[in-house]
Amino acid sequence: APRLCRIHGPDVLTSHPFNNVTENIFAKIGANLHRRPDHPICIIKEAIYAFFDERHPGVFNKLDDLYPVVTAKANFDEVLVPADHVSRSPNDTYYIDTDTVLRCHTSAHQAETLRKGERAFLVTGDVYRRDSIDQSHYPVFHQMEGVKVLDRSQYSDAAGGTKVAEQELKETLEALAAHLFGTGIECRWVDAYFPFTDPSFELEIFFNGEWLEVLGCGVMEQQILDVNGCAGEKAWAFGLGLERLAMVLFAIPDIRLFWTSDKRFTKQFKAGQLNAKFKPYSKYPPCFKDVSFWLPETGFTENNLCEVVRGHAGDLVESVVLIDSFTHPKKQRTSHCYRISYRSMDRSLTDEEINDIQDNVRGSLSDDLKVELR
Ligand code: PHE
Repeated sequence: APRLCRIHGPDVLTSHPFNNVTENIFAKIGANLHRRPDHPICIIKEAIYAFFDERHPGVFNKLDDLYPVVTAKANFDEVLVPADHVSRSPNDTYYIDTDTVLRCHTSAHQAETLRKGERAFLVTGDVYRRDSIDQSHYPVFHQMEGVKVLDRSQYSDAAGGTKVAEQELKETLEALAAHLFGTGIECRWVDAYFPFTDPSFELEIFFNGEWLEVLGCGVMEQQILDVNGCAGEKAWAFGLGLERLAMVLFAIPDIRLFWTSDKRFTKQFKAGQLNAKFKPYSKYPPCFKDVSFWLPETGFTENNLCEVVRGHAGDLVESVVLIDSFTHPKKQRTSHCYRISYRSMDRSLTDEEINDIQDNVRGSLSDDLKVELR
């Protein structure tokens, strides 16, 4: 049966066969972590605002209350995402119906904000993606989009404008990283591809022994400017992952912590305090459960598995990792074994509750995902 989803407020239920927004995802809409003054996501948002206000006083307009339910047109078409791009697939994006999605990036607001006449702006909000499960991936996270249209006096021709935009963009984001983390932070630029920028780059920061991607950016595609009231202008754009930046700044080891209401977490952060380092209040033991199954002929995706696990375990699931895959030579069937790690951030879990969750996961795997459990 299609799931029900309240999209127009608590009283109006709609259902659509294309809807893949589960109740537990739907329940996140309106949480607005980025607007709670003492929350780390809001603290980092304010710190980035402060950086831009200092660098370009009065230039950037700030928007942080745009609704996360947007048209597929705004989320994809208006930023030139090709019709066959993977990000459009319902395996990656939450659809309410065929034309309406939970935005998967704040770039969904680039075109409309340009059309409103804004020429330099920061758009902050919650974004939604179906994805795998580990310490730095959660289906809801927060981004800040930055766009700045250059002044005509900054360049004389299109090629020159592109160069100036690239340079100003990189200088700005390197200065932002230094502002947030100090000049000792290790950063690197990586060439990237986005349909809406050219050239495109990613910035990575060295954290906990690995390179963490914290933002994507680039020189805006001319077509986006041309059709949204900025014909012939040049601009740069970036999209920052606020959880990733906050994890680095405050040494927060697991992305689920942003959603806890445990006072031992929340009381560690205060508006305006950028030097707090998260003190783990105690580490509860993980509990590992393996599940093995034959893949169905109708197809299987890891994102669907992760959705099922989150549906039953909520924030008690820490990671889902493929530990074995083999194809039976005669039967030509493939079997996967996943290791699910359950761990609460706030308390010890009992064997009983984990076993119940695991039973429910197994039930949904065979009933909904049509796999053959082994
Ligand atoms: N929207 C991109 C993402 O979510 C980030 C980005 C924004 C890249 C703006 C370039 C320009 O990954």
